[in-house]
Parts: sequence; structure tokens; C-alpha cells
Amino acid sequence: MSVAAAAGAARAPSRMDELVAAIKARRGLANLDDAFVRERAERVLRSDGRIRKKLDASRDFAQFSRSREHEALLKAVRKELRAVYGVFQQREREGLLEEYERTRDGALLDEIMRAHTSTRERLAHYPEICAQLASRIPAPKTLVDLGCGLNPLAYLHFKDAGWSPYVVASDISSADMAFLERCFAAAGIPGETHALDLTKDREALMALRGDVALLLKLLDSLEETRRHVSYDVLSAIAAPWIVVSFPTRSLGGGRRISTKGRSWFERLLRRLAFSWETFEVENEFFYVCRKEGASDGKAARARKGA
Ligand SMILES: C[S@@+](CC[C@H](N)C(=O)[O-])C[C@H]1O[C@@H](n2cnc3c(N)ncnc32)[C@H](O)[C@@H]1O
Repeated sequence: MSVAAAAGAARAPSRMDELVAAIKARRGLANLDDAFVRERAERVLRSDGRIRKKLDASRDFAQFSRSREHEALLKAVRKELRAVYGVFQQREREGLLEEYERTRDGALLDEIMRAHTSTRERLAHYPEICAQLASRIPAPKTLVDLGCGLNPLAYLHFKDAGWSPYVVASDISSADMAFLERCFAAAGIPGETHALDLTKDREALMALRGDVALLLKLLDSLEETRRHVSYDVLSAIAAPWIVVSFPTRSLGGGRRISTKGRSWFERLLRRLAFSWETFEVENEFFYVCRKEGASDGKAARARKGA
């Protein structure tokens, strides 16, 4: 078949394709994978028969897009996507990476990290966090960073604290993972990335083996998508040490979040028979967890129970 014929035979976009494109046409959502957005849209369509009916009855997507149901659908899906992803996207970072690739100016790496809310808020505290972790956990050969955002770019801080691991990084967006791989190449960070939805890709998660797994400020986002998913995620992780953190202030450093908000997590750790230690830096509370039965000297220091 000629190239022109092959192009002509390309599938016309379905209503769902057009819907996904419409949902993503909003600041902060463009990098999400279509499949991730589609799944959220399908969930709303399953739960709201009125919207589903209107979509099915419309002549084409253009007609549907003029309806109130279209507005309601976009609003509901974007609300969820914003809560678990969009809200963390601070600014355009492509230009910063291009400049970093040209100049290798380390200050630009910090600027790239400011493009994600979590790393922006943590930037001044990395030396303290890395020193705390290094004093409790033996230096890992492989560090698995789940729902990583731009945290793997803090590699040099970990190096200063005595950790130089191979980094296995994962988050939901393939485009973000491709961006992170380019950062790894430019900054000389040894590692690889995987686009993974932790609320459903259990097999893929189990394949990411390492000595330490980081789940920083992640579990609230996962629970937002699927309640009680944290148990499945924590039990599937193939690493003896698991570091979990929670924000102690609402996004942007506002309201103080009560410790009661984390009591569910401590109940979960008991259920999983993990031992743990805690420490806190400004705006973030850390659990350094150890799977029971794993053995090395430091484990004995980790207290069991609350
Ligand atoms: C608060 S941010 C924390 C980012 C990073 N761990 C840090 O602390 O710097 C939450 C991260 O979880 C990711 N995330 C949300 N839902 C996810 C899912 N279902 N699977 C994997 N990652 C997810 C988001 O894309 C976002 O990067």
C-alpha cells in the first residue's frame, strides 16, 4: 500500500478520541496518556446515565460538545485529573531542559524541579531529608521512586548523603517519563523510567525491584482514585525498605493537616506487619518502613507498632 493510501486508511477519530482530546485541552493535563484520561471518562459515563445517553444520541461529537452534558462530563473528569495530576504541574519546563542540555548549569536542574509542586516545596529540605534517610537505611544499589514527579532529579542531594543508586522512576504519564529520561541523560543520573498507573498495574509494579522504594506524597492521590488501594500497592512493592511521606500542610503551605489524617496509614502498617520509624521536616512527615522478616542491623532499631 502506498504511503498516501495508508494515511487515507488511518482510523477516523472516534467520539471517545475527540472527548479525550477535549478533556486534555486544559493547562496541566496535556501530558497525560490518552488511555489514563479515557478510563476516567468511561468511569463517569458509567456512573451518569444521562450523560451517556446524550453522547450516544448525538449525531457526532460536535453536536455533543454543544450540550450541557458535555460541560458536566468535562468538569467531572478534569476535576479528578486535576486533583491527582494537574494541580502539581507548575510551569513549562521544556525550555529549561533545553538550556540545561546546552549549558549543564546545575541551577537549571533546581529550576526544572520547581516545575512540580512537590519538589518545589521540598527543594530547601533535601539535604536534611537525604541525611535522615541515609542515617536509617543502608545505601541502596537500586532506588525505586513511585509516583515520582520530578523527585529523581534530587539525585545529587542523595549522592551528597552517600547514596548513589541506580534509579527506577515511575509516574503515570509517558510524556513525563520521556522528559525525565532526557534529564537523566543530561545530568548523568543512572536510571530508567516506566509509565505506570499504580491503581491497576500491579504486575508491572511487582517487576520494579529495588532495595528502597520511595512513595513520597503519593498515597493521598492514589486513595483519591481508588479507596484502600494503598494496601495492594504496599504489599506488591518488591523492596525491603519503603519510605512513605505525607504533606503536613495543604497544597501551597496553607492549613496544617492534623496527624489524625494519617491514623489510617498506621493502622495499615500494623495490618501489613511492617515496622517503622518516623521523622518530620517542614511541610512533610516521613515513615521509614521495613517489611517484617527482612534482616539487617538497622531493622532492629525500627519500632514495631505506634
Ligand atoms: C503529590 S505528587 C508527588 C510527586 C513526588 N513523589 C514527590 O513527592 O516529589 C503525586 C504524584 O503521584 C502521581 N500519581 C497520581 N496518580 C497516580 C497513579 N494512579 N499512578 C502513578 N502515579 C500517580 C502524580 O502524577 C504525581 O506526580
